[in-house]
Amino acid sequence: MTSLDIHNPFDAPVYYLETVESTMDVSHELAQRGEPHGTVIAAGFQKKGRGRVNGRVWLTEKNENLLFTILLRYHCIENIHAAITLRAGIAVSYAVENYAEKLNRTVTVKWPNDIMISNKKAAGILCEASSEGTVHIGIGVNFAQKEFPSSIEKKATSIAVAAGIDIAPHERFVLLEKILESFYGELAVTQESLKSRLEQRLYKKNEKVIFIEGAAGSGKEVTGILCGITETGELLIKADGEQEERSFITGELILN
Ligand code: BTN
Repeated sequence: MTSLDIHNPFDAPVYYLETVESTMDVSHELAQRGEPHGTVIAAGFQKKGRGRVNGRVWLTEKNENLLFTILLRYHCIENIHAAITLRAGIAVSYAVENYAEKLNRTVTVKWPNDIMISNKKAAGILCEASSEGTVHIGIGVNFAQKEFPSSIEKKATSIAVAAGIDIAPHERFVLLEKILESFYGELAVTQESLKSRLEQRLYKKNEKVIFIEGAAGSGKEVTGILCGITETGELLIKADGEQEERSFITGELILN
């Protein structure tokens, strides 16, 4: 394991491994070994990168994309920041916009964990927490990759594709530094501020959506207008034919 020479505002190590099963697994191991709050593990390639929904894999080309996990220690579950996945999401969206000025458009957050450029997914976030209050925030940003497997090519993009530029893969660590800076700042903001800023970049806000409530494949479909989020990060939808907005803790928006 080598160390990356980048600034980490958490004042903790930033490790790098060429190939791992998943940076999430390494982060869990680092937690066991007593590594501090804010430790980062990045990798060039994951053999078993995992997505948020059970069974979904996170596929990327070797050394083209930014793959990392941040280890956060809260010591008990009650101390974990509310809406932590959304805090990471807004941090990634700001950092990507700041990094790639050529994008020239708002990078949005698709509730609860996707970062979108136009209508395509450019990054995903996976949050795993343990009972003793250790949280692992896994972030995958499609960075320099220009071609995607046919199974995802219609839905996925990268910074290079969206900005129409070639980027040297090692530049991804500049973006990593920006994300860490931005995420560190987002952990300090009030829930009110998070809600209002996130609603300005919430994917499909005020648009008609189809939402699957609860676990993937639950079959509980809700169609209506996506109104926003609550201060604690639940999604607000005004379902067709209903007067009141409903809030949802888990579920997934369906892309047409
Ligand atoms: C999703 O969109 O479903 C979440 C994807 C999260 C992918 C990242 S890549 C780094 C970290 N390690 C993993 O195995 N997954 C996360």
